[in-house]
Amino acid sequence: MKMHLDEKIWLTISFGIIMGFMLITGYQAFALEMGPPSNMETIDPQKVDQTAPFDNPGVKKIGDSEYEVVMTLQAFGFNPNNIEIPVGAKVTFIMTSKDVVHGFEVAGTNINAMVMPGHIQKITQIFDKPGNYLVICNEYCGAGHQLMSTTITVK
Ligand code: CUA
Repeated sequence: MKMHLDEKIWLTISFGIIMGFMLITGYQAFALEMGPPSNMETIDPQKVDQTAPFDNPGVKKIGDSEYEVVMTLQAFGFNPNNIEIPVGAKVTFIMTSKDVVHGFEVAGTNINAMVMPGHIQKITQIFDKPGNYLVICNEYCGAGHQLMSTTITVK
């Protein structure tokens, strides 16, 4: 096969770019442990109450200005409810659903997640501004869906 020099150069460059991206992605995934959003952490949805850490939901201080919120979602509420967090805190939400698919959207932030039964959802957020943040379920989950909300108070 006869190939023009330009073609060979372009093929080499594009192959190099593809390899470069694959190396970066591989490094992030395996060395930095940055799993993609589809990274699956599973749980038996029938045994949420007996499985750590969900056997003890709540707000936990894990470091200097670092918090963990272990939360279970079910029709039609969030547990814990009405959370309080100090300003500037870095908060990791660890969530699962006890029944159907629910949503976890915090108005005024970038937090918007699907919380599915059988899966563990984790999101980290730093709350810089004091205020009352409305938390809503944005996945239709049944007759009481529109009532499923709570607040995060940052002060
Ligand atoms: Cu839970 Cu809609």
